[in-house]
Amino acid sequence: MKSYFCKRLYEEINFDADNVYVCCGNSLGPSFCTPNLSNDKNYYKNLLTWRKKCTKDAYLGHLAKECKNCNMLEEREISYLDYWKSKLNLNTPFKLKNIIVKSYRQCEYSCVYCLEHRYTQGKKTLDVSKSQFYDFVPILESLIEENLIDKENVRLEIQGGSISVWDEFENILQIATDYGIKDIMYHTNAFKYIPQITEVAKFANSSMSISLDAGCKETYKVIKGNCDFFEQVIENIIKYANAGIQISLKYIIVKNLNDNIEELSKFFHVLSYIRSKLAEQNKKKIQPMLEIDFRESLSSLDYQIPPKYLELYSYAIEYCKNNGYSFGCQDFIRKLLRTSKI
Ligand SMILES: C[S@@+](CC[C@H](N)C(=O)[O-])C[C@H]1O[C@@H](n2cnc3c(N)ncnc32)[C@H](O)[C@@H]1O
Ligand code: SF4
Repeated sequence: MKSYFCKRLYEEINFDADNVYVCCGNSLGPSFCTPNLSNDKNYYKNLLTWRKKCTKDAYLGHLAKECKNCNMLEEREISYLDYWKSKLNLNTPFKLKNIIVKSYRQCEYSCVYCLEHRYTQGKKTLDVSKSQFYDFVPILESLIEENLIDKENVRLEIQGGSISVWDEFENILQIATDYGIKDIMYHTNAFKYIPQITEVAKFANSSMSISLDAGCKETYKVIKGNCDFFEQVIENIIKYANAGIQISLKYIIVKNLNDNIEELSKFFHVLSYIRSKLAEQNKKKIQPMLEIDFRESLSSLDYQIPPKYLELYSYAIEYCKNNGYSFGCQDFIRKLLRTSKI
């Protein structure tokens, strides 16, 4: 029997500005209304019932229209026995394993590629402020209270906007760690060093995704919307990495801005500078990731990596092999690289 598998669809929930989605998926997956738009006192129970149904439907081969063509999806065959077991097992508790917070949009930067521009119109925010959409604190408290989280396995993934201008950030981190969440991921521009993150890293498995996108301050400034904080960000990355935080340092290839070997090689130079400043036990904790601007890579379902970018990928893979880094990229890019024999 045909079945569909997607790790995100099976485990995730994404609290976004306009809706709650099953997965991060650039907020295109099946959606549910946000708590502030619901007067239903059983909101959280219904949210989970809906979430569970999306997963079960996919497992049983019925794909939501929003999920069709998503490159995260894998088609699998399941036996009739598995099919019936799953149909009968409708009441097995389903708990959240990855909670994404995206309920705020303000940021100190205005990166040229930023997908949040549709909300911010590229406006920068330097003042710490509340989310423009809804508070996440009561949501996290309710998910905990209603026992909807797989406490042993859950990861809290904070996307944004920028955590350093999001008023609720420290409170969220406190509630999550008091409850016992042991796995936290931050997406950040690393503009500001936040000591609480380093404190939390002493007892919770912490990882960070930071897009540097450049190897020199001039290119950085252009990509980041005229924000001239290259050196400051590098210093912050060193502090976070030396606190034992696992770091994915991203280089998003942006057409005509950094899509050349010269800039990419400078980026690797910066990476090796950062590594040289790390204690021995932290050196392996920083990993480069080479990605492609979503505005380009998600523009068509038949997207093929252009030859010029394939050269960048070959260069990066070779560099990582020769210098002891594990090479990172998005799963769908990895699949495309395989078909291009890279
Ligand atoms: C919305 S950001 C929020 C966190 C933080 N402000 C940052 O930039 O890391 C989440 C992630 O989406 C990535 N992103 C935003 N627009 C993108 C695009 N057009 N292509 C690829 N990645 C993008 C950012 O690099 C970031 O890693
Ligand atoms: S730092 Fe992140 S949220 Fe801010 S503008 Fe850049 S991509 Fe967007």
